[in-house]
Amino acid sequence: MSKAENCRAPEHVAIIMDGNGRWANARGLPRAVGHRKGVEAVREIVRAAADAGVAYLTLFAFSSENWRRPEAEVNDLFGLLKMFIRRDLAELHRENVRIRIIGDRVNLQGDILSLLLEAEETTRNNTALTLVIAFNYGARDEMARAMSAIAADVEQGRLKASDVTSALIDGRLDTAGIPDPDLIIRTSGEERLSNFLLWQAAYSELMFVPEYWPDFSREVFFAALERYASRDRRFGGISDKAVALGS
Ligand code: IPE
Ligand code: IPE
Ligand code: MG
Repeated sequence: MSKAENCRAPEHVAIIMDGNGRWANARGLPRAVGHRKGVEAVREIVRAAADAGVAYLTLFAFSSENWRRPEAEVNDLFGLLKMFIRRDLAELHRENVRIRIIGDRVNLQGDILSLLLEAEETTRNNTALTLVIAFNYGARDEMARAMSAIAADVEQGRLKASDVTSALIDGRLDTAGIPDPDLIIRTSGEERLSNFLLWQAAYSELMFVPEYWPDFSREVFFAALERYASRDRRFGGISDKAVALGS
């Protein structure tokens, strides 16, 4: 058992899987090959997260801004998600993994939508790792949808303005019921959130690693968990060590 499996794992790890295109470019291959290779990394990291004792793993698979890419690439990415669910759902279910999808569902085609619903429905009572797939997800879009639903409730008298608290907003986001991410990892060396979990990331530890997503292995993941274990999270207070010293 590695050190990462020994130490207390973060409850929720969220990953911005970036760098598939550059991974392919560096090898003179088409970007689509990088995306396909990226799915293999997904398979490896889902198992690694479960082995490490992570309870929630969120993977950013397609952002609400990724529609700006060429149509052929958008089709590749949609095709890969469909293939992943078709091929892996039965095995993930056997492994007791629960699947949740976050993101806007309104603009999704019927076939992908029904696959996503099937994945959620099939695995809804599973109790091992919860795999949250952020697909057609953007934090601003998520917050705008939540605010619009809250405004409709106020308009129709189901809620008062004073009912709108941080906890109520939590419950209206796509991530309702999912704890905030303890650790957000972004691969490929880019250091930005790109509209990922902006509300939920208020106190997340951020980690930027140089590896392109297809090269993000179990070992690199465990090394990130070890680095996380040495972070001092204060949530605006003072560290436990300072409390113990009475300083
Ligand atoms: C991540 O890799 C996959 C998605 C964003 C869907 P990219 O496709 O962004 O790869 P780079 O950043 O261009 O290398
Ligand atoms: C973020 O990566 C979205 C996903 C990983 C799905 P991008 O590659 O789209 O982000 P930017 O455009 O570099 O900020
Ligand atoms: Mg990118």
